[in-house]
Amino acid sequence: MNLFLAWLIALVFLPLAAVSAAAQETEENPSAPLKAVAILYPTEGNNVSGTVTFTEVEDGVRVQAEIIGLTPGNHGFHVHEFGDCSAPDASSAGAHFNPTDQPHGAPDAAARHVGDMGNVEANASGAAELNYVDHNLSLTRDKLSIIGRSVVVHAKADDLKSQPAGDSGARVACGVIGLAKNNSGAN
Ligand code: CU
Ligand code: ZN
Repeated sequence: MNLFLAWLIALVFLPLAAVSAAAQETEENPSAPLKAVAILYPTEGNNVSGTVTFTEVEDGVRVQAEIIGLTPGNHGFHVHEFGDCSAPDASSAGAHFNPTDQPHGAPDAAARHVGDMGNVEANASGAAELNYVDHNLSLTRDKLSIIGRSVVVHAKADDLKSQPAGDSGARVACGVIGLAKNNSGAN
């Protein structure tokens, strides 16, 4: 093989091999459920942090949260409209995510904001866990999708009825919702 031909083959095939390898490493598994994650960071003056995952299931989206640094008791827990936690008080996250123009309500109410996930309940150590399937959230359906929005945890309980936000007080933690790798199974 002459040198030119060898060089031509390398020029054509090496980049193809590189692209193919990269695609295999990062490609989402189309048969696995979509998954998203929000890492919660404390707002100014608070110590609340945690992780929230969202996984597509047959009848909705499974929401799993582990949060620490709370005061004991219930704390409002919502998807807010903007994926922007940059303000010291997380006011940059905007209002509750409400693409269907409904009133504020409980997670199981007929009328609610899409972002209304109710409360997380912290134990005496300030740790909260939540695991439920939400029937309003979506990771895929265009205007209902929560990807690129934010999760906010509040100082007080969401009373599930006061308008427009359940009277749940200051924002103590905030995290942007992004796509997570989904090809390692349902976890
Ligand atoms: Cu909120
Ligand atoms: Zn709401």
